[in-house]
Amino acid sequence: MPAPMIAPSILSADFARLADELAAIKGSEWVHVDVMDAHFVPNLTLGLPIVQSLLKVTDIPIDCHLMIENPGRWAPPYAEAGAHNVTIHAEATDDPIAVARDIRAAGAKAGLSIKPNTPIEPYLEILKEFDTLLVMSVEPGFGGQSFIPQVLDKARIVRRLVDSGELKLLVEIDGGINDDTIEQAAEAGVDCFVAGSAVYGAADPAEAIRALRAKAAS
Ligand code: DX5
Ligand code: ZN
Repeated sequence: MPAPMIAPSILSADFARLADELAAIKGSEWVHVDVMDAHFVPNLTLGLPIVQSLLKVTDIPIDCHLMIENPGRWAPPYAEAGAHNVTIHAEATDDPIAVARDIRAAGAKAGLSIKPNTPIEPYLEILKEFDTLLVMSVEPGFGGQSFIPQVLDKARIVRRLVDSGELKLLVEIDGGINDDTIEQAAEAGVDCFVAGSAVYGAADPAEAIRALRAKAAS
């Protein structure tokens, strides 16, 4: 398995100081940006103009997690803007393959996310269209919630398919990742760990990233 990747979520950052908050996580593999529309999830965050501005002030690859309805309409512009990875929710579209192809055609990696109660089995066939599977380990919508360990079975299933060569994609997990939970996620075969409050709630975010990465690798 490749070295663990940490993707701090700016949902837990100070939105009035986003450039500084990006500078504070120098050394992280990705930065995770949660786009919420107050329809797919009961919260509203930020959208394309802010992602475009963030792209101007950081070299860290941006991992956009779109918790929005109608991703077929809204996802490709994030790819065109220069996001590294654009992840849509399986529950938000009837045609995830078409959206994945549009994201890739616009120049980004395509990700598929599933909520904690969404089974993985119906999506295994289409994962070859994606570069990332984002397993939600909390109900999407808010930072600072408790990790749901039952979702790790989904990571294990996909890890096995990646290790056997049947699939080629990154397994990412999002929600409740901290010093106490990251090891069990790593054991389940996760490659990339989103962490919001565990990074931005720390006195030294860069040090928190190093500590999380070391725990995931242990
Ligand atoms: C929740 C978001 C997460 C959130 C994670 O819907 O998708 O990315 O920022 O926050 P923590 O790490 O605090 O659970
Ligand atoms: Zn997220």
